[in-house]
Amino acid sequence: MSIIINEEKKLFTLQTNSTSYQMKVDDLGLLLHTYYGKKIPVADMSYNLNDYYLSFSPYDFIGEGWKPHSVDILPQEISTFGNGDFRESAINLRQADGSLGLELRYDSYTVEKGKYSLEGLPSFYGDNAETLIVTLKDKIYDIYVHLYYGVFEEYDLITRAVKIENKTGESIHLEKAMISLDFFNGDYDLVTFHGKHMKERMLQRNSIFYGTTSVGSTRGASSHMQNPFAILCDKEANEEYGNVYGFGLVYSGSFLISASKSHFKDTRVNVGINPENFNYEVEAGGSFTTPEVAMVYSSEGFGKMSRCYHKAIRNNLCRGKCKTARRPVLINNWEGTYFDFNADKLVSMAEDASKIGIELFVMDDGWFGKRDDDHSGLGDWKPNERKLQGTLKKLADRINNTGMKFGIWFEPECISEDSDLYREHPDYAFKMPNRKPSESRNQLIVDMSRKEVRDNIYNQLEKVLNSANISYVKWDFNRHISDLYSVALPKDKQGEVFHRYILGLYELLERITTNFPDVLFESCSGGGGRFDMGMLYYMPQVWTSDNTDPIDRLDIQYGTSFAYPVSTMGAHVSASPNHGTARVTPLKTRGIVAYFGTYGVELDINKMSDEEKTEIQRQILEFKKHYDLIQYGEYFRLQGPFDETKYYTVWEVAKEDGSEAIVASVRNRNEAGLVHEIVKLKNLIPDKFYRINGGEQLYLGGALMEHGLKMEYDFFEYPARLYHITLSE
Ligand code: DGJ
Repeated sequence: MSIIINEEKKLFTLQTNSTSYQMKVDDLGLLLHTYYGKKIPVADMSYNLNDYYLSFSPYDFIGEGWKPHSVDILPQEISTFGNGDFRESAINLRQADGSLGLELRYDSYTVEKGKYSLEGLPSFYGDNAETLIVTLKDKIYDIYVHLYYGVFEEYDLITRAVKIENKTGESIHLEKAMISLDFFNGDYDLVTFHGKHMKERMLQRNSIFYGTTSVGSTRGASSHMQNPFAILCDKEANEEYGNVYGFGLVYSGSFLISASKSHFKDTRVNVGINPENFNYEVEAGGSFTTPEVAMVYSSEGFGKMSRCYHKAIRNNLCRGKCKTARRPVLINNWEGTYFDFNADKLVSMAEDASKIGIELFVMDDGWFGKRDDDHSGLGDWKPNERKLQGTLKKLADRINNTGMKFGIWFEPECISEDSDLYREHPDYAFKMPNRKPSESRNQLIVDMSRKEVRDNIYNQLEKVLNSANISYVKWDFNRHISDLYSVALPKDKQGEVFHRYILGLYELLERITTNFPDVLFESCSGGGGRFDMGMLYYMPQVWTSDNTDPIDRLDIQYGTSFAYPVSTMGAHVSASPNHGTARVTPLKTRGIVAYFGTYGVELDINKMSDEEKTEIQRQILEFKKHYDLIQYGEYFRLQGPFDETKYYTVWEVAKEDGSEAIVASVRNRNEAGLVHEIVKLKNLIPDKFYRINGGEQLYLGGALMEHGLKMEYDFFEYPARLYHITLSE
């Protein structure tokens, strides 16, 4: 039982394998947050709540006599604006009479087996969870707020979402709809993941201060610039020690994550849709549901938290056949040819690729409409038969005849002004009245909030997918959303467009992934511009970054790994010098870095020497041999790329029972006279002996973990090594 309720005390406790979470209804009917941390037996944790008067904090009275009770200094389970709590609120709502305010009081609860789902929104799912729904009601108005909790014991994962139901008989307006979590103290750091195109998810760590620290996106996409994932942690927390609280938003649009430290030294974390440009009407009898927030607490540092997220995302967020089936090793033609290809060129690449064990050929941008560069064609999802030298079916058959599967690229959410679709339906693109819309990569945004627009795009895509034997789709999105205005909505509803766009996108993705269950979908947004838990619900892998330089990828994949598992990270071996950085790196290093993702190839294979092709062939065999261990093993960051006192970035993937592990190292810094670096391994059996790469020497598990393993030195730039650690019989 993971949900324990004491009806007499009105105490709700959620228990996972290693964590406890608690809330309690007080004498005024307020739902207060009383504990979130290391697992303890169920006990009433409300004894630390404050019951004294603080100047400038409004209060109510409990019972007889002078016993002030101030919402401003009490930890709220969900915070609302306008009730005397001056900290950053999670929910701000304008009543029909124009007043801003919500005073929530406990109403009822229900417990359900299995995990709740959210209509129209992605969320974790599964029978291996339990659901608690606590319902609160406004003191005066018939507004109900349902707090959803999904408890996955085995991953220490607690998910939350809020549904606001309007039974007032009149429309109300939401100005903020987030989720909040209050902490009893304020000595924390906030870890966030910022970046840019070609350098996504760079770790950033700051102390929170008196005031508000926040990250977010106003771009209509979760974005390269900030990821919708953050960690609140002890100041001394590291990979193995300390209290850490992860917050992952299951959403792909504009978001905000904030941590506020009050004058009272407590902390509030708010996570959800960015309130900027958000104003949502909830009509009489209607409701609004927030995106889900996935929280993992670990008392053993970042590493354990990451491993919990990895399992939960792999098993209970990603869906479809490829969730568990081995994904094919692919070759993508983008960095090999860019727009400059025809069918003969692609087939010749496929022939070479097939001979060395590559299984799937992906035709990237440029196969449709008028599209020889990025100035035109988006929206016209009809094969360019001149370039394809025949029909798409003919090309797919030619690729299939080389022994490979065939995949294709789309960018369904964007439209070129120079396209038939735009000429026919200029209103399909977002633009504001009287203003010229701003271009980005020469393209505009398709208004996905409109059903008829989605239907048009869906029908085009469906026709293409039914016309040939297509096993894979790359779903790209190469700009952010400006000129936000939907002609389908009245002027007072324009604050709904960002969210309606995302709901529309999710509807389209649900439709296409349901109707094409055998197709592997990979999400992309100029690389990793929409690497979030929302997209992972529809597509089990994401093109991690347009930056394929293995040394830059160390930083990118390191940051990404804090929340997201290896199985979700698209990673390819590309040409050297790298097209983005001009850096020259060994082919082996490019391979080893790509193993810790989906592993694929993205270059002009026709230009590779026989020696290089043989090396790729060897890599594919090595990758496949270790596939299960890498994709499903326990992930450990042993040495990160940002530690300037270290020369090697080292990570490990180990079987849960410690019987096998792979350690990967890349030397990303160098200097003359470098001494060997010793790295301590994880998750081995202390009293068992192991071999490394099948060698003669035996190593005690305890020794490898406590005394460490010496990283071998190679005298050239950016060497990489794999150490395969197996039990000796
Ligand atoms: C951006 C993607 O990240 C690339 O891999 C490639 O598909 C281009 N778009 C094509 O325009």
